[in-house]
Amino acid sequence: MLTWEDPTGRYTSSARTTQRLTAQEALASYEKAESTASPVPVVDVAAVAVGDAPVAGVTGLEQVEFGARRLAVDDKRMINCRADLNQLVPFKYRWAWQKYLDACANHWMPQEINMNADIALWKDPNGLSDDERIVIKRNLGFFSTADSLVANNLVLALYRHITNPECRQYLLRQAFEEALHTHAYQYCVESLGLDEAEVFNMYREVPAVHDKAAWAMRFTESLGDPTFHTGNPADDQRLLRDLIAFYVVFEGIFFYVGFVQILSMGRRNKMTGVAEQFQYILRDESMHMNFGIDVINQIKIENPHLWTARFQEQVHTLIREAVDLEVRYARDTMPRGILGLNSNMFEEYLHYIANRRCAQIGLSEMFSGATNPFPWMSELIDLKKEKNFFETRVTEYKTGGALNWD
Ligand SMILES: [Fe+2]
Ligand SMILES: [Fe+2]
Repeated sequence: MLTWEDPTGRYTSSARTTQRLTAQEALASYEKAESTASPVPVVDVAAVAVGDAPVAGVTGLEQVEFGARRLAVDDKRMINCRADLNQLVPFKYRWAWQKYLDACANHWMPQEINMNADIALWKDPNGLSDDERIVIKRNLGFFSTADSLVANNLVLALYRHITNPECRQYLLRQAFEEALHTHAYQYCVESLGLDEAEVFNMYREVPAVHDKAAWAMRFTESLGDPTFHTGNPADDQRLLRDLIAFYVVFEGIFFYVGFVQILSMGRRNKMTGVAEQFQYILRDESMHMNFGIDVINQIKIENPHLWTARFQEQVHTLIREAVDLEVRYARDTMPRGILGLNSNMFEEYLHYIANRRCAQIGLSEMFSGATNPFPWMSELIDLKKEKNFFETRVTEYKTGGALNWD
């Protein structure tokens, strides 16, 4: 008979039970094999098969078993959960539900932001310097495809491996916010009359933009593979690594040079509409990153055997690669110092951010003594989540206000 704990019956098969290694045995065997593998410093934890077939969690699409035992809080797990995923309550991770509520309270739409001053400034031949125009175009180029990439990773790769309904509720909200962000970039491109093809193809045509996207693609491939399942230590580590790559690096490091550059323009009263769009996006992104960090730390609590010294070393390598790519991006977008900023300041800032990200997931510091050259960014990120923290904000939100029934 099927049960909540084992809905498919496959995990109680005697063959599987006798073949399966303990988590520690499997990981030791995997790490031993890894340590003798290629010295190439590319993180690839699943190069070696470990133990028996994965003991995967449920997906939420299983048959509904009539009369089965009711769900209890203790049945819930962040990954590899074997209990029903279609029941939101009882909550186990209240922080996830609270983040979902906070995100909904922060709802905004790109069209609410007035772009008139930006359009006038952009069209004025003397309005902006060439360097300032590069900053705007390059960042729209990076972000316009980056947020689609994050959204696709969420819905096509990550979602099915997070086996908790309240976290999935937040992921669905995040996915919609990523759609809004892509919308916001498209709205800026359209408002300013930029060449759409130039902007949306930058991740194929501009090396510093391409390299960040290409780096991230390595960390969505396995989760998006329909044959990939978590459930053994090597594959669970792969999921954890890919979560860190997207939430801590992509959304937590790769976005920050662009945020600083665009928000600096806004602080100097230039391209204030674009800057306001970015300010809303920054607020959303900092919540995405914090949610991801909470998920990562919860997986660590529930699966302490995954957080080995070797794995931590791999994550350090990954963060170091990311910082190098983002420093290159800073140099490419800002080859000469403008707006009181220069690429050395970005390097220092990225070291500071990387240290913070390491601390947030329990890793040792990587860049000793790094300080924050942009303290005003922390103030922006820490803004209270009130709806109208921008003076220009339309405070009365009208659902369906853009529809025309005539
Ligand atoms: Fe986004
Ligand atoms: Fe995001």
